[in-house]
Amino acid sequence: VKIYLNNAASAWPRAPGVAEAIVRTLETPPSHPGRSVSCCVDVITQCRESLARLLGGVSAERIVLTMNATHSLNIAILGMALQKSDMVVTSVTEHNSVLRPLHHLQSRNGIQIRKIRLDSHGSIDVAEYRSALADKPRLVVLNHVSNVTGRIQDVASLLALAKNAGAVTILDASQSLGHIPLRADELSADIIVFTGHKGLHGPAGTGGMYVSPGIELEQFYVGGTGVRSDLSMHPTEMPIRLEAGTPNVPGLSGLATALQWYESNGEALRETEHQQSILLRTGLRDTSGIRLYGDDGDDFSKHIGITSFRIDGWDVEETGFVLQESFDIICRTGLHCAPLIHEAIGSAPEGTVRFSVSGFTTREEIDTALAAVRNLAS
Ligand SMILES: Cc1ncc(COP(=O)(O)O)c(C=O)c1O
Repeated sequence: VKIYLNNAASAWPRAPGVAEAIVRTLETPPSHPGRSVSCCVDVITQCRESLARLLGGVSAERIVLTMNATHSLNIAILGMALQKSDMVVTSVTEHNSVLRPLHHLQSRNGIQIRKIRLDSHGSIDVAEYRSALADKPRLVVLNHVSNVTGRIQDVASLLALAKNAGAVTILDASQSLGHIPLRADELSADIIVFTGHKGLHGPAGTGGMYVSPGIELEQFYVGGTGVRSDLSMHPTEMPIRLEAGTPNVPGLSGLATALQWYESNGEALRETEHQQSILLRTGLRDTSGIRLYGDDGDDFSKHIGITSFRIDGWDVEETGFVLQESFDIICRTGLHCAPLIHEAIGSAPEGTVRFSVSGFTTREEIDTALAAVRNLAS
C-alpha cells in the first residue's frame, strides 16, 4: 500500500464519485454545449455555479473553465496585452506558471518585472512591495499559498495595496482553493486563478479562473464556441470570450462531482488536513537531523498541509527515491517548479523534499512517514 504525500502536485484520492462520473461521460454518446441539448451543458453550468458559490457568491458568468491553472494564468497574463513600458510586480514565491509567461513577455515585448523578496518568515517583504507599487505597475500577480512551504500570504492586504496603486491584480489560488476558505469580495483580486486537480480533489486537465466585472481581457485564443457561429470574430461576452474549442467534458463532469462533494464535505476535509499537517510538521521538527524550510514555529494558522524539509547528509533526490522504493511513500523532491523561493528559504540550489497531505491522509500514514524519515535520519 502506497502512502501518498504528493497532494500539492495532484491530489489523491480524487473526491468520491469523480472516477464514476468520468467513466459515465465516456460511456455516453458525446455532445457539446450549443451543438445539441445535452447533459454536458449541465455539467459545465454546474461547475461554473459551484465555483461561483465557492468563491463567495460571485456571478457564474464570470467563471472561465480551462485545462489547468497554467492555462488560466496564460490567458490572464497574456490577455493583459502588456506593452514595453508596462511594469509587473510579482514575488519570488511564484510558480513557473506565473514566472514563465512573464519572462516570455519580457523577452518578447520588453516589459519590466519586479520580483518582491520574502522576509525571514517567508512572507512578502511589505516595505519592498510598497516601494514597487509606488512605481505604478500595470499588473500585480501574487501567489496565495507557496507550493514549496505551504505558507499562506496575507493577500487580502497585499492586493488591496495594489488596487490602491491602480494595478490590475491576479491571485494564483492554485494551492489555496479547497485548502482555505476564499471569498472574492474580501480579496481585491481582479482575477482568481485555480485548478481542479489539487485542493478540490477533481481530475487533472480541469481548472479555471474568476474574472471580476469590469476586467476585459484581450483574446489571444479564439475559435469554435458552438454558439454564434455566424460571427466572423470570436464572441466577446463572458465566459465564452475566453473559452474556445471542445471542452474537457469528461474532466469537467469529474470536477462537477468533486465540487458537489466538496460543498458538503469541504469543511471537514480542511480540518483534517490541518490536523495532519500539524502532526507532520511537529513530528519532523522534533526529529534530529531534519531541517524544515519556511517553518513558523507553533503558529500553524499560516500554513496549509505542505511541508518542505531535508535530512542531514542526504541528497534530496536520493531521499525521495529511497522513500518511494523502500518505504512506499510518494512525495516530491527538487525545486517544485518554483525556482526562486529556494534562495529565500535557504534550500537553493537542490531544493527540498516535500510532503503534502490532504484531508484524506490518515494519522497512521503520518506516523509511518515520520518513522521512515527518522530511520533515514539516524
Ligand atoms: C502555486 C502554483 N501555481 C500554479 C500551478 C500550476 O497548476 P496546474 O498544474 O493546474 O497548471 C501550481 C501547480 O503545481 C502551483 O503549485
